[in-house]
Amino acid sequence: MSNNKNQNPVIKGLSDKVGDFTVSLHYDRRLFKQDIKGSIVHASMLCKQKIITLSDKDSIVEALLEIESEIETGNFLWRPELEDIHMNIEARLHEKIGSVAGKLHTARSRNDQVSLDMRMYVKDSINIIIRQLTTLQRILLDIASQNNDVIIPGYTHLQKAQPVLFSHHLLAYFEMLTRDKTRFKEAYERTDVLPLGSGALAGLPYDLDRSYVARELGFSEISQNSMDAVSDRDFVIDYLSAASICMMHISRFSEELILWTTEEFSLIKLPAEYTTGSSIMPQKRNPDFAEISRGKTGRVYGNLVSILTVLKGLPMTYNRDLQEDKEGFFDSHDTLAAVLEVFLGMLPGIQVDSVKARQAAEGGMVLATDLADYLVIKGVPFREAHGIISELSDYASTNHKLFSEISLEEYRGFSMLFDEDVYEVSVESSVNARNTVGGTSFKMVQQAIKLGYQKLEKQDA
Ligand code: ARG
Repeated sequence: MSNNKNQNPVIKGLSDKVGDFTVSLHYDRRLFKQDIKGSIVHASMLCKQKIITLSDKDSIVEALLEIESEIETGNFLWRPELEDIHMNIEARLHEKIGSVAGKLHTARSRNDQVSLDMRMYVKDSINIIIRQLTTLQRILLDIASQNNDVIIPGYTHLQKAQPVLFSHHLLAYFEMLTRDKTRFKEAYERTDVLPLGSGALAGLPYDLDRSYVARELGFSEISQNSMDAVSDRDFVIDYLSAASICMMHISRFSEELILWTTEEFSLIKLPAEYTTGSSIMPQKRNPDFAEISRGKTGRVYGNLVSILTVLKGLPMTYNRDLQEDKEGFFDSHDTLAAVLEVFLGMLPGIQVDSVKARQAAEGGMVLATDLADYLVIKGVPFREAHGIISELSDYASTNHKLFSEISLEEYRGFSMLFDEDVYEVSVESSVNARNTVGGTSFKMVQQAIKLGYQKLEKQDA
């Protein structure tokens, strides 16, 4: 590490004793591309507005591009004593072009600069997540259409409730991911506001062209209050809350995958490379990837609570506390992106056991509601029918019989309205009867799959 801390007159090195505490370089280095891009556009604007000369601008831009490739190729000497990414790049600029470097920071403060860098980084991160979610949605549709006749028990209270199509169950996650994407898109809109040009807090005494900067950096809007602009981190909160909700969905999905792979459920097999063996029990194929995904939800929630707490009670405007926005954000983004990557790899390889699924769907009392509906059609008020079938279910359960194994005579012991056609009540008839929009009938689910693909095509889901 360089000992020559005060080589640059603009940047005072920190004393070693207190230095470590304020240093953010080890994590804000990630913002180097954003920082350099922002600086290049800022310099161009200063030149366009005749605040700096063309030749000054050219040497700044050229040197910044060199610095970028130094960083990319690992040839940049990082100096933690200069605290952060902004100061590291600026110091290097001084080394390269001398005092002209000092002109870059005209009409700019680190306060609007760091907000700019973060906003640019968050926007890119959102795009990455939206792309992953879209691919995941497509995979869900693929699995749903490949297994479109598999019937499983649907659950409430984790008790078998009514038969449903496996594809219907999967499409529930398609809906969740659609909402997640909406949240990320909204987060994007609020992030897509240019803070540069706010200065330290009050605006700047120069004739700036903020619209030019916004256009060049791909921002749709310009911040309208300099004090808000430098102190606002709502966009980080927006990202982290969208990420938390998304992780909650992934965690629920993980939990179901874990359940479905148990011997008790035996509904699916995960691809071998997404399970691990036990060091002691040879039969084990543990769903570790799904478990870790479920477990990682905690840190993403934690980062959300952390930034909410950092912001709470902060007076206007920029306060150094705001530096605490970064690690949690990076950690959550890395976590979510990694978990989605696992799902993208794992899901296409799952094998559905349609035989076990059917056994599971036919066992239990999943047709009880349909039997009640059967009596309703024959004129029995629903509440009364419900009571009759409840008693019938107790009887079947006590005698270890499936509904299909109960004789007509036994049925008639509960209601004389039962007839031979009671045996036509099946998991198929049950599923297909639910033909309302959003229901589990084969027809509806086929429609939902088709609509899903269409929506993805139109970027509407
Ligand atoms: N590292 C700082 C942060 O992340 C950069 C801004 C510093 N601004 C200042 N006035 N000290 O917030």
